[in-house]
Amino acid sequence: MSALRLILEEMISSAPERRLPFEQVMRLALYHPQHGYYGPGPRRIGRSGDFFTSVSTGPLFGRLLALLARQEWEKLGRPADFTLIEQGAHDGQLAEDILAALDIPGARYAIVEPNPVYREVQKARLGDRVIWLESIRQAPAHALYLCNELPDAFPVHLVRWQGGMWQELHVDASWHCVTGAPSTPELVNEIEKLPRDLAPGHTMEICLAALDWIREIAAAPFRGAVFIADYGLDAEEFLARPEGTLRRYRNHRTDDRILDDLGESDLTAHVNFTRLIAEAEACRLKTADYDHQGRFLTRLAAPWLRTLEGRGLDGTTLRQFQSLTHPAILGRSFRCLLLEKTDDFTTGEGLN
Ligand SMILES: C[S@@+](CC[C@H](N)C(=O)[O-])C[C@H]1O[C@@H](n2cnc3c(N)ncnc32)[C@H](O)[C@@H]1O
Repeated sequence: MSALRLILEEMISSAPERRLPFEQVMRLALYHPQHGYYGPGPRRIGRSGDFFTSVSTGPLFGRLLALLARQEWEKLGRPADFTLIEQGAHDGQLAEDILAALDIPGARYAIVEPNPVYREVQKARLGDRVIWLESIRQAPAHALYLCNELPDAFPVHLVRWQGGMWQELHVDASWHCVTGAPSTPELVNEIEKLPRDLAPGHTMEICLAALDWIREIAAAPFRGAVFIADYGLDAEEFLARPEGTLRRYRNHRTDDRILDDLGESDLTAHVNFTRLIAEAEACRLKTADYDHQGRFLTRLAAPWLRTLEGRGLDGTTLRQFQSLTHPAILGRSFRCLLLEKTDDFTTGEGLN
């Protein structure tokens, strides 16, 4: 039996009802410092890893985000202290790609990275071209915050409609998912927002961590914009998935055997963009754009493509553009959200 499974079995046997909310199991499966999937250091992403991301398709994604940064810098009136802030920077590949294409005089690049092992890996790749922030609360006055595939990697609570009520899924000592009362008041609060006219057994994920995260970004002391790219659905689309969207990824294969080989596979759930946007707007962030990645990136790239004046993209770049934008590859399942952050902040630990 794996070390992580032993740790979890001990936690389950000492829990009051001999079971743990699924969210706690997923949190450790992903982030246990030694035995979690992401805990010990960045795994390979791409052909030799477990899954692809827009970053692993090649440097074009970073080049396009450099254009986005320039656009947001100009909207802010070209401030001298503009900073790109990335979270979920993994091995630093996206930062490297953006920096190679960035055309903003004096701009800085900061990474929010809580894991010291990841910081070391990022430092080895990027050296003194970036700075690290302990938290988004240290953001400078003017910034573009960006992340790719971050909230899909947050642990989720699982809830199931039982006909008369929603219940939470917990993991018991025999490694079965059993229903029980919601484990926190925040979860009860979210459950109240869910529909009730569903077939019994309908299962959904609730990501309280994503709501905490967007509130923290909204409260951070910077003006500018927030860019979030991830695969996700609108609330209505979740209703067409009665089994939920939680998946296990290993060697480019995906299935719903979530509790198999915990810590060795990536576990991930689609982002509920409707709920995320509602929370962002409740915290005074304003939706500037929200669309399928294909359409969003095509609009972003349009002025640059026009400057090529009929010369067209080279074959490699064209293939990357197709991977990022084609509806059957990453263009439709991935969504891009751009939020404006216009509040004027005068307090905070901001960088000078
Ligand atoms: C699916 S990977 C995406 C990596 C990279 N952004 C890409 O697109 O290739 C998710 C990453 O988010 C990181 N992560 C999860 N929670 C985080 C947090 N609170 N702060 C910073 N990084 C986090 C994980 O360690 C992992 O590196």
